[in-house]
Amino acid sequence: MTKLLDIKGLTKRFGPITAVDDVSFSVDRGEVLGFLGPNGAGKSTTMKIVTGFLAPTEGSVEVCGHDVEREPLAIKRRIGYLPEGAPLYGDMTPMALLNFVCDVRRLSAADAKRGIEYAIEKLHIDNVLYQPIETLSKGYKRRVGLAQAIVHDPDVLILDEPTDGLDPNQKHEVRELLTEMAGKKAVIISTHILEEVEAVCSRAIIIAKGKLVADQDPLSLQARSQLHNAVGIRLPVEHVAACTEVLDALPEVRRVQKSVEAAGVVELLAVAANGSEILVQVRSAIDAKGIQVNEIFVERGRLEDVFRDLTFEVEGLKARETDAGEAAHA
Ligand SMILES: Nc1ncnc2c1ncn2[C@@H]1O[C@H](COP(=O)(O)OP(=O)(O)OP(=O)(O)O)[C@@H](O)[C@H]1O
Ligand SMILES: [Mg+2]
Repeated sequence: MTKLLDIKGLTKRFGPITAVDDVSFSVDRGEVLGFLGPNGAGKSTTMKIVTGFLAPTEGSVEVCGHDVEREPLAIKRRIGYLPEGAPLYGDMTPMALLNFVCDVRRLSAADAKRGIEYAIEKLHIDNVLYQPIETLSKGYKRRVGLAQAIVHDPDVLILDEPTDGLDPNQKHEVRELLTEMAGKKAVIISTHILEEVEAVCSRAIIIAKGKLVADQDPLSLQARSQLHNAVGIRLPVEHVAACTEVLDALPEVRRVQKSVEAAGVVELLAVAANGSEILVQVRSAIDAKGIQVNEIFVERGRLEDVFRDLTFEVEGLKARETDAGEAAHA
């Protein structure tokens, strides 16, 4: 079956800069793909090529089986795009913009009416419909941008930092909207908010300096964290020394991290030697010494750590000091 989006060997050079470097991936209906990477990694450039706003230097993009460069009109109706920032037509009102994009995408009057009502309701823009876009707040500009991206019910949705600048309530609503639309579309969202990936994405791609460095579901990606399966222990400060000694003596424990103290309670984190499950061993060792603890929990890992590990090296940055000397990845 044809993938809704199929990217092959995509490369984009701007003079001496290679912004996108031989990137290939495809996205199926039902997938919400988180597109991650440091500033300047090539996310927006990739999205501009996918949506036909930039031509690739090499490689190809197909949307619903249509080549983006050769058949630009065929993809207009099938793709929705929220560009980075808010480069909308400032002098238009949101209502005029929504009507305009429905015209450009050749929607019937009935589909346009339905789509516009849906978009207005979902993005809560009914109170600003007749105010010039340039006079709207940043968050409202973003909402209008999202509304024009979904108004024609596209199969493929490309959203460049969709929740940037939104208030927490609206962030939550946009995430719910993405989840609601997820089953029926192929969605790509670029974001720097890693919790967003955990909350809405079924898959995550990380790029660094234009190169694809990871392509996995968020849980598997998280499992590559050095803290995957680490056991966290909250306990009163007076038991910390005894507990640390017990943990240090366990061969399954690589190291013990101690974190901020609050109200006489300390959190220790026993990092698993090779990411394996160590809860049973930790718990019985603590019990055997009769150490009283408030809470024990297992860490799934932190996406932020994985992101940093995977991108630091490519970016030519110094290795993370906290992990110096540790064997890095699973
Ligand atoms: N029109 C252009 N001319 C020259 N260089 C460009 C152009 N557009 C992008 N670049 C360069 O391409 C690289 C990738 O930029 P891009 O905007 O795709 O990054 P990004 O991953 O979206 O970053 P951010 O997280 O900051 O939005 C950067 O080095 C950028 O300076
Ligand atoms: Mg960008």
